[in-house]
Amino acid sequence: MLHLIIFGPPGSGKGTQSCRIVEKYKLIHISTGDLFRKEMARGTDLGKEIAKYIDQGMLVPDEIVMKELQQAVDEYCCDSGFIFDGFPRTIVQAEMLDNMLESMGKPVDMVLSVDVSEEELTKRLMGRSEDSGRSDDNADIIKKRIEVYKAQSLPLISFYTSQGKLVKVNGMAPVDTVFEKISVAVDTYIEKKEVPSVIN
Ligand code: AP5
Repeated sequence: MLHLIIFGPPGSGKGTQSCRIVEKYKLIHISTGDLFRKEMARGTDLGKEIAKYIDQGMLVPDEIVMKELQQAVDEYCCDSGFIFDGFPRTIVQAEMLDNMLESMGKPVDMVLSVDVSEEELTKRLMGRSEDSGRSDDNADIIKKRIEVYKAQSLPLISFYTSQGKLVKVNGMAPVDTVFEKISVAVDTYIEKKEVPSVIN
C-alpha cells in the first residue's frame, strides 16, 4: 500500500495532481484544505475558528489540524493507501505525522515536491479567483499564503530530503506532463522501492 505526500506552494497543482494520482493508484485523498473548507461550509464554531486563519492566509493551529487529520485517517485510511495534500506544512506537523503513522505501521513512502515559480503561482491563483469562490483567493491573501509557505513550509524540503523520501517534480509544465513525471516517480517506487531524487 502506498503512503504519499504531495507538497508545494499554494497554486502549485497539489489538488489537481492528487485527483489524478488517486484515480490511477487507487488511493484515498486527504486534503486538509478541503476538510477545513467543509467545516467552514457547515458553519460550526470550529468552522468559524478555522476561517479566522484561512481568511488571513495564515496556517490553522496544529492542534486543530491534527484533530481533523486523525479523524480522517481513522475514518478512511484503515485498509487503503493514501495521499496527503497540504499536510504536513510545518516541521512540527511532520514530526507528529511520523509518530502517528509509526504507531499505525504505515510510514510515509515518498514526498512529491512540486516546484513552480512565484510568478506562475500568482498567475494561476488570480485566474482561479474569478470563479473559485474561495475566501483566500484574492491578491493580498495569495501574497500572504506564499510568504507563509516560504517561512513555515519550505523547511520540510530539508526534513524529507534527509529522510531520503523527497522527489522534486518540475510543476511548470502542462497538467498532463506534470502527471506523467509524477507517474514515473511513483512507478519507480512501486517497482524498485527507490525514491528518485528528481524527475525533470
Ligand atoms: P489548501 O487548500 O491546501 O490550499 P493551498 O496550499 O493554498 O493550495 P491550493 O489549493 O490553492 O493550490 P494547489 O497547490 O492545490 O493547486 P491546484 O491544483 O488547486 O489550504 C488552504 C488553507 O488551509 C491554507 O492557506 C491554511 O490556512 C489552511 N491549511 C491547509 N492545510 C493546513 C495545514 N496542514 N496546517 C495549517 N493550515 C492548513 O491548482 C491551482 C490552480 O492552478 C487551479 O486553477 C488549477 O487548474 C491550475 N493548475 C494546476 N496545475 C496547473 C498546471 N500544471 N498548469 C497550469 N495551471 C495549473
